[in-house]
Amino acid sequence: MSLATAPAPSFDKGLANTVAAETQMSFIDGGKGVLEYVGIDIDALARNSTFEETVFLLWNRRLPTAQELKSFTEGLRAEYDLPAGMLELIRTMPRDATPMHALRTLVSALALHDSEADAEGEDANARKAIRMLARTPALIAGFDRHRKGKPFVAPDRTLSMAANFLWMLNGAKPTDAVARALDVCLILHADHGLNASTFAGRVTISTLSDLYSAITTAIGTLKGPLHGGANEEVMIMLREIGSLDRVEPYIMERLARKDRIMGFGHRVYKAYDPRATYLKTFARQVAADTGNLALYEMSRRIEEIMAREVAAKGIYPNVDFYSATTYHSIGIDLDLFTCMFAMSRIAGWAGHCIEQLDGNRLIRPAAAYVGPHGQPWVPVSDR
Ligand code: SDX
Repeated sequence: MSLATAPAPSFDKGLANTVAAETQMSFIDGGKGVLEYVGIDIDALARNSTFEETVFLLWNRRLPTAQELKSFTEGLRAEYDLPAGMLELIRTMPRDATPMHALRTLVSALALHDSEADAEGEDANARKAIRMLARTPALIAGFDRHRKGKPFVAPDRTLSMAANFLWMLNGAKPTDAVARALDVCLILHADHGLNASTFAGRVTISTLSDLYSAITTAIGTLKGPLHGGANEEVMIMLREIGSLDRVEPYIMERLARKDRIMGFGHRVYKAYDPRATYLKTFARQVAADTGNLALYEMSRRIEEIMAREVAAKGIYPNVDFYSATTYHSIGIDLDLFTCMFAMSRIAGWAGHCIEQLDGNRLIRPAAAYVGPHGQPWVPVSDR
């Protein structure tokens, strides 16, 4: 398109009304509260699929045959182990470091141990995507063991991604129910259109930088409390409230101050986030099984008050609201919640980066200059 025919640029703050990419992975209808991965409703996937099968679906645009799923799963498990040197790097980290800072650093450092780090092409990127996805659980669990002064636990290739993470984190095999709870959370968080962290990763890869750099960009972007950091903020809020009878005054006071209630609202969903729909029922069961029903009841009360006060503004629970209760119920430390989000979303980020490279164009929007013109340079002695 020549400059002469290019439409005049328009300012769209937050890019809320801008389509910046095409994707075949997830479809979102924000008005109706619909999310599909490659055309399959998220509720059906959460109830019937596994994280490994969901990743295959997102990356291959179709469900795997039994043999394909077996091979894909074996390929992931073959990459569970961290390269030599990574555990030493974890040991050098301050024990009081924020886990998302540690994770961003460690995923970035994986590139130092991958001879294909700068290799181009879809096959090389697919192999790098598998390595990052397969190794991130060990990075998170390894940092947590390090900060608690506990010995590392080697991955177990007989276990699923979810179960293997919990094994390396706790040094004990999880129950099937607890492993399934994490598996469902990983399914629900795997991809979500052009959210901020996915867009950031696409910007990075659009310069023809490498996949490790793009995923590192995305992790840094996910950390923010308006995005992936919200699940931790939900748990902090629940702890601040403390008991069911304090929910109403706390929420009403926050709303009166025009504070944002974490875990609510969404740029796209103006209806119930379909991930929260399933997670709500699931969170109740997990909370009941683990003695955390009081926490769940507080969450439900918050939702009732928000429905009464702000649903008319299209503000409903999002995926982070009930994932917080779920992660807490299965024994995940609060400051690891966003790491759980990242562990799953590497699937979406890598898929989008590979999609971006297919017909890539450098992502470089315009900025509207609103400063002065024609200013003189003034010698410092005259300033
Ligand atoms: C995720 O994009 C994705 O897909 C992200 C994600 C994914 O899977 O990748 O779905 C994951 O990030 C979910 C969102 C997690 N974030 C939070 O829970 C943080 C709290 N929510 C927000 O701050 C807010 O809802 C955003 C940032 C998520 C969306 O904000 P927008 O679209 O920029 O909307 P806005 O800030 O302009 O708010 C519009 C109105 C405002 O009121 P008015 O000034 O018009 O009177 O809604 C109000 C806001 O004050 N509002 C809230 C609110 N969120 C918006 N009021 C109270 N509590 C909230 N949570």
